[in-house]
Amino acid sequence: MSLQTDLIHLFKEIPFTTRSSAELLKSLDFFQAREDDILLVSYPKSGTHWLAEIMKLLFPSKVTLTSPIEFGDVSRLEELDNISSRRIIPTHLNYHMLPDSFKAKKCKVIYIIRNPKDTAVSLFHYYKDNPNLPTIDSWNNFFDMYLRGQVVCGSWCDHILSWEENRNEMGPLFLFYESMKKDPITAVRKISTYLGININDNEIQEICKKTSFSEMKNNVETDKNSDPNHTVCSLTANRKLIFRKGAVGDWKSYFTSKQNKLFDELYNTRMEANILAKHIHFED
Ligand code: A3P
Repeated sequence: MSLQTDLIHLFKEIPFTTRSSAELLKSLDFFQAREDDILLVSYPKSGTHWLAEIMKLLFPSKVTLTSPIEFGDVSRLEELDNISSRRIIPTHLNYHMLPDSFKAKKCKVIYIIRNPKDTAVSLFHYYKDNPNLPTIDSWNNFFDMYLRGQVVCGSWCDHILSWEENRNEMGPLFLFYESMKKDPITAVRKISTYLGININDNEIQEICKKTSFSEMKNNVETDKNSDPNHTVCSLTANRKLIFRKGAVGDWKSYFTSKQNKLFDELYNTRMEANILAKHIHFED
């Protein structure tokens, strides 16, 4: 990387872009959560925008989908404080960096997980296309950075493990990108049950239709339903960078067999005892 590039700085040993100022990250612990806040947590490129759209549609007009808590500078805390309605707050922060008041208030948390190989490919393209991220010259170099956790938000395994190991603290709902692709109706039902929202089967079907990959991509291309000033991922406000392929198993076109072996060795060692890993699917 490019850790030395002026787009990236390290905070608590994790790479952040300059869109998350060090002052803001330092002051996160002063953030005052509210009991009815809902956190939408993910490692980058796991389907955050997709889940955000589903959640927005589940609560027509009664909630505000805010920008990520780690986005911007210190004025962010006040901005979030000024929102009077119920808040859905996206974040790519790991569990240890999450402001304590969310934990004390036992806020609801939905964490979306995508298999780490497709996540790597998606993040590779994000690095290539997103001017807020350092330039990357090849997949091979990116793969090495990803394997070492030297990418924005750090290591995929560290992120997921931090939330998994503390699952009893906040009782998050864990959702899996691949399962959502296969059966979005069940996923939307799970989300509505977790959030205590009454919704009928027709409404669920309607939400699934509106949040299909093709529908969301098309809306962005025709500039429908998008506010250029709103960001769901702290790394960009440009929704055109988000909807690429939306596929499961794209990693097979990128990982060499040697890279796959290296990745599996690391993954199996780190995730061996992990309950969530049993639900992660690498193929369509
Ligand atoms: P790809 O780059 O593999 O296409 P995030 O929102 O966390 O940044 O994740 C972006 C990834 O989710 C992209 O993956 C994007 O295409 C995919 N995605 C976005 N909306 C989706 C949807 N409605 N259904 C399936 N995948 C979606």
